[in-house]
Amino acid sequence: MTKVEVVDLRSDTVTLPTDEMLEAIRHARLGDDVYGEDPTVNELEALAAERMGKEAAVLVPSGTMANLVSLMSNTKRGDLVILESEAHMYWYEAGGLSAIAGLLPWPLKSEFGVLNPDVVEAAIRPRNIHFPEPTLICVENTHNRHGGTVVSPKQLEVLGYVARTHGMRFYMDGARIFNAAVALGVDVKDFTRHVDNLMFCLSKGLSCPAGSLVIGTKDFVERARRNRKVLGGGMRQAGIIAAAGIVALEKLVQRLADDHRNARFLAEGCARVEGLSVDLARVQTNMVVLDISDLGVEDGVFRSKLKEHGVLAGSIGRGKVRLVTHRGIEKEHVERAMDAIITAVDDLRGKADA
Ligand SMILES: Cc1ncc(COP(=O)(O)O)c(C=O)c1O
Repeated sequence: MTKVEVVDLRSDTVTLPTDEMLEAIRHARLGDDVYGEDPTVNELEALAAERMGKEAAVLVPSGTMANLVSLMSNTKRGDLVILESEAHMYWYEAGGLSAIAGLLPWPLKSEFGVLNPDVVEAAIRPRNIHFPEPTLICVENTHNRHGGTVVSPKQLEVLGYVARTHGMRFYMDGARIFNAAVALGVDVKDFTRHVDNLMFCLSKGLSCPAGSLVIGTKDFVERARRNRKVLGGGMRQAGIIAAAGIVALEKLVQRLADDHRNARFLAEGCARVEGLSVDLARVQTNMVVLDISDLGVEDGVFRSKLKEHGVLAGSIGRGKVRLVTHRGIEKEHVERAMDAIITAVDDLRGKADA
């Protein structure tokens, strides 16, 4: 019997490098990047800065380090940082923003991950001896826990205006900013022009094995380079990471549209399954969130059922299961996932009815 391939929809971080990336890694020109001497890293940093329309960029090992380095480089200890209450930085980065950057997070609820500028403005404290100094507003784009939703250039423009008016910086966790750009069919600079600085990940839909870039002005990136060193993220022959990143930026951005199409197809299929509910308005990029609360089981039970049928799904808690499309997931895999989902729901509903 041939082994049936598992359909892994937990995250786009499970993508493996392309053959072209592996070739590029094999032939990359290398040097010591802590001395600034790795030509491949230097090339990637220049390319990333140019793509984002900013002065400079620095490569870091992960998205989490990119966010932490950026927080440290935009603020001083004790400052207040406004962010969205479902933000990755607030949920999934082990509290580094407080434990290491020494910041007071001020989370604000939002619709679809898009901060309301009036609510942001109301949260900004006066500069007065009693209050932590509000120095930074953060957005996440696309927004992971909201289901891969896009914060549009227009929405960024308004938030950027609020930040500037109050003498604050404006930062974007753009881990999946290319998904946002491809979804709206616009240049990524249409987003980045409204923020002071940002990060994006190579290691998600862009399929690289590792790496994220922190991008902004020369001064900001200089501070980021120092903070990367503080955190132990200065890498030596990091050209082996950068080589794959160059291939990703040159070849793999536009194909994200395939992931979006597959997510849409999956979401529409799941929305027709009795017992599941899907907010189709949130399916804007490569994620689908299934609300399984009507099944009356913990999401772990649902995910185990799916696994029995060869499909891996992620959890975002509160009766919600997340499915993420990515390179390697084709229409046939989405169809297999649909079959598994229908079978799992039937099994669980059968149990509930019994
Ligand atoms: C929005 C967002 N920011 C940051 C990160 C952190 O990236 P990493 O897993 O590379 O640390 C992730 C990871 O999924 C993410 O979704």
